[in-house]
Amino acid sequence: MFTGIGPFSISIAKEHIVKIYAIDINPDAYNYLKENIKLNKLKGTVIPLIGDVEEVLSGLNIKSDRIIMNLPGTAWSFLDIAIKSLKPGGVLHYYEFASEFQIPIDKIIETAYPRKVEVINRRKVKSKSPGIWHMGIDARIY
Ligand SMILES: C[S@@+](CC[C@H](N)C(=O)[O-])C[C@H]1O[C@@H](n2cnc3c(N)ncnc32)[C@H](O)[C@@H]1O
Repeated sequence: MFTGIGPFSISIAKEHIVKIYAIDINPDAYNYLKENIKLNKLKGTVIPLIGDVEEVLSGLNIKSDRIIMNLPGTAWSFLDIAIKSLKPGGVLHYYEFASEFQIPIDKIIETAYPRKVEVINRRKVKSKSPGIWHMGIDARIY
């Protein structure tokens, strides 16, 4: 989700034999993503998709092993469709601007309910403003 020009997608597909659906709503990002797919020698496959993640995912009807959500301001509003699109035991890589880890973790647990959530990693990516961090939470959702 929110792939931009594909930094996560391209880096992963360069090293691994994978199939990645890379979605962004911005036409410029989508065009550079397609360029990046051509320029980099990928082991895996990156499928570029343009549009709103909710609409694209609803149309695709796929279940993923992993979903990356690096849109820290508003990713919370796409948690529902992300969790619905995740296989049982799949991993969510979720980013949010927050003051403490428990805030994004609670949102994931609440949205995933009654599915069980196991937080497997949490990190401060960088400072956003005083007391607020760009945080990453990796959670396995059963
Ligand atoms: C913070 S950037 C992240 C880009 C990339 N993942 C990275 O880490 O460099 C967020 C991206 O989300 C895209 N975006 C925002 N809302 C979206 C939506 N509803 N559906 C699809 N893409 C969206 C923007 O166009 C932008 O490229």
